[in-house]
Amino acid sequence: MMSLKGRVCVTGAGGFLGSWIVNLLLSKDYVVHGTVRDPSDQKYAHLTKFEKASDNLKLFKADLLDFDSLCRAIQGCSGVFHVACPVPSTTVPNPDVEMLAPAVKGTMNVLKACEQAKVERLVFVSSAAAVCLNPSWPKGLIMDESCWSNKEYCRTTENWYCFAKTEAESEALEYGKKSGLHVASVCPTLILGPILQSTVNASTLVLLKLLKEGYETLENKLRLVVDVRHVADSLLLVYEKPEAEGRYICTSYAIRAQDLVEKLRKIYPNYNYPTNFIEVDETTMVSSERLQRLGWSYRPLEETLVDSVESYRKAGLL
Ligand SMILES: NC(=O)c1ccc[n+]([C@@H]2O[C@H](COP(=O)([O-])OP(=O)(O)OC[C@H]3O[C@@H](n4cnc5c(N)ncnc54)[C@H](OP(=O)(O)O)[C@@H]3O)[C@@H](O)[C@H]2O)c1
Repeated sequence: MMSLKGRVCVTGAGGFLGSWIVNLLLSKDYVVHGTVRDPSDQKYAHLTKFEKASDNLKLFKADLLDFDSLCRAIQGCSGVFHVACPVPSTTVPNPDVEMLAPAVKGTMNVLKACEQAKVERLVFVSSAAAVCLNPSWPKGLIMDESCWSNKEYCRTTENWYCFAKTEAESEALEYGKKSGLHVASVCPTLILGPILQSTVNASTLVLLKLLKEGYETLENKLRLVVDVRHVADSLLLVYEKPEAEGRYICTSYAIRAQDLVEKLRKIYPNYNYPTNFIEVDETTMVSSERLQRLGWSYRPLEETLVDSVESYRKAGLL
């Protein structure tokens, strides 16, 4: 393996976003160490088919709760993209074990492994879930990076994913301030876009269900959407730009569920779309101005939707 651009590690390399960032890094001539939980599992086969993967991608078996396995994967890397985290699509019966341990303790393990291996930069994939759950934010005011989800509110409302992402992100940024490790975080909203992996992740399921569940009624929620390819771009930008620091909200489109369905119906009239929408009072708005100032841009929503649907068809999911 010859390192042209440098050697970096991507945790959760086989997931929806992980696969796209691995693909992007390989295309830019990085040597990539990708962590997966079971390298022999066929669900990671797509990774080895990426261009330049045979020369520049090495998969490591690692679990977020196994510090030594993370050390082996991170050793020799100058940068780390910490993507791995459970993303539940239903309620979490045992939040301590299923959510908090991998998300919070797991992130701490990654940070310590980075420090031990003298990694220079870590990009932490957080979420708008760590931004938006804040009941004291003034209604109608656009949320920026200064807004944090309220941990106590997340806990009492049992939003364990939001709680875990908020805790993990704040600890990661704090760790960066105290150590020599440069830590920056990216907080994407709902990520849609084509899948490279063969399994269905939680946010892909949101769109798949809109297309085929045939809901009788659906809340007309405001959906804050970003394309998985644009999220991958943002992670690389934050990694490569020396001036990047702190948090970056990553979002492209705000669209009501009903308008999203109408957009899809115009292009694909024959799916089993929801029939009725219930109005809800929801005004959460977030801004990616800070990321755009760093040089980030995105393409039209229609492109995201068409490329998503075509990838689901190809994978036999529709
Ligand atoms: N999708 C969204 O809408 C969205 C929005 C905002 C932020 N995010 C963030 O983006 C990141 C990637 O999410 P995704 O949508 O790509 O989900 P995904 O496809 O489910 O990927 C999650 C990855 O985390 C890995 N993982 C989970 N628990 C682990 C553990 N204990 N040890 C090692 N690896 C573990 C999984 O590994 P296996 O392959 O071994 O299962 C998988 O690769 C997450 O940090 C998520 O919080 C996602």
